[in-house]
Amino acid sequence: MLLSPQAERNWEDLCSVLEDVLEDQSHRQLFALELGSGTGQHVIRFAQKIPFVTWQPSDIKDDSRESIKAYIAATKAESVLQPVHLDASEPWEKWAGLSRSSCDVIIAINLLQYSSFKTAQGVFSGAGEILKQNGLLITYGVYAVNGIISPDSNEHLDEELRKMNPEWGLPDIDVLRQQAFGNGLRLERMIEMEDYYKCLIFRKL
Ligand SMILES: C[S@@+](CC[C@H](N)C(=O)[O-])C[C@H]1O[C@@H](n2cnc3c(N)ncnc32)[C@H](O)[C@@H]1O
Repeated sequence: MLLSPQAERNWEDLCSVLEDVLEDQSHRQLFALELGSGTGQHVIRFAQKIPFVTWQPSDIKDDSRESIKAYIAATKAESVLQPVHLDASEPWEKWAGLSRSSCDVIIAINLLQYSSFKTAQGVFSGAGEILKQNGLLITYGVYAVNGIISPDSNEHLDEELRKMNPEWGLPDIDVLRQQAFGNGLRLERMIEMEDYYKCLIFRKL
């Protein structure tokens, strides 16, 4: 089981956001896809706190999927499906056999700043196909706003990310909004989180 200290710190706040945005649908069973699940810590906690959702974790990396499997086994989580290989930069037809309009929620935590623009494009075009009407795409991370990165700590993080991989870095919210619009989604809410992180809530129209 891999352990991310950041996931351990932020899962509770993320859970509160999910509980808030999904509250009005708690009378029915929902299906949620997590992109770039990483260790599996988030999906396990979400499943424990939000029982009316079936969770489908996914990741591009083998060691992440192994860790997610270990968390599922250790916690005996019944509403978390076995993780699937999913490369979000690929066209939705290659998204682990998920069918069109099959998801109520897609969540991507700290994925966009750690991946190329092609992945961001894949996330929005995939979400445009896989989400049901009125379904939600939720992205959590740090962002540029109209080309400006602030405060200094975020500027520093952007530099570090670009040093690790020139294709990584803080995505611009306005660019994401355009990607969303081009794929039938609307940026509905921006929620300020700790340490200048934000949750962006997009709705499929
Ligand atoms: C910074 S980690 C975040 C992990 C987890 N969501 C968290 O917040 O703890 C980014 C994750 O995205 C995955 N990833 C990177 N590119 C991806 C892609 N194109 N499709 C799917 N997953 C990807 C990585 O393997 C990694 O597990």
